[in-house]
Amino acid sequence: MPYLLILFAYLLGSIATAIVTCKLMGLPDPRTQGSNNPGATNVLRFGGKKAAAITLLGDGLKGVIPVVLARFVFGIEDYTWLILIGIAAFLGHLYPVFYGFKGGKGVATAIGVFLGVNLWGGLAFVATWLVMAKGFKISSLAALIATALSPLYFWMITGHAQLTLGVGVIAVLIFWRHRSNIQKLLDGSEDKIKGD
Ligand code: G3P
Repeated sequence: MPYLLILFAYLLGSIATAIVTCKLMGLPDPRTQGSNNPGATNVLRFGGKKAAAITLLGDGLKGVIPVVLARFVFGIEDYTWLILIGIAAFLGHLYPVFYGFKGGKGVATAIGVFLGVNLWGGLAFVATWLVMAKGFKISSLAALIATALSPLYFWMITGHAQLTLGVGVIAVLIFWRHRSNIQKLLDGSEDKIKGD
């Protein structure tokens, strides 16, 4: 059953909420706007708060649903299986089968996975993101700081080596997908969050 859940998680993760939401709301394709990233931050740039909130929620649910199904419907308790299922959803978002394997940067889906696997670990990530976003007003920087701390949070909360390793894999991939953001942060040209 875990293997079927991994497949389900990957396929669910492959649905690009940003692209679907923008299409349904009559907005331009996020891959042609702003940072060209199909994610909530970019949708906020040109599509407004409602479309961004729907994108954030949808991308988060893609991470939560498979893990919560595994835990509460199929009774899978093992953190190793749970994080593997979560990684499958996360990889679906980054490399979606439905969009030529060109997806997003994974922050919202990772948050969903983290909340589903261990609520406290997920909340620690969200709290860090919120504090950093309030302080710096830069979405990518807030995400990168929360991401860098996430393996430490999960290790401190669970003491589970494989789970911490899995969270670390997600963290490395988030950094990899933020290469252009890191470059912009370094040269001072990264966008501030709109609406503040
Ligand atoms: O979660 C994505 C965010 O960290 C950066 O998005 O559009 O500014 O590249 P963007």
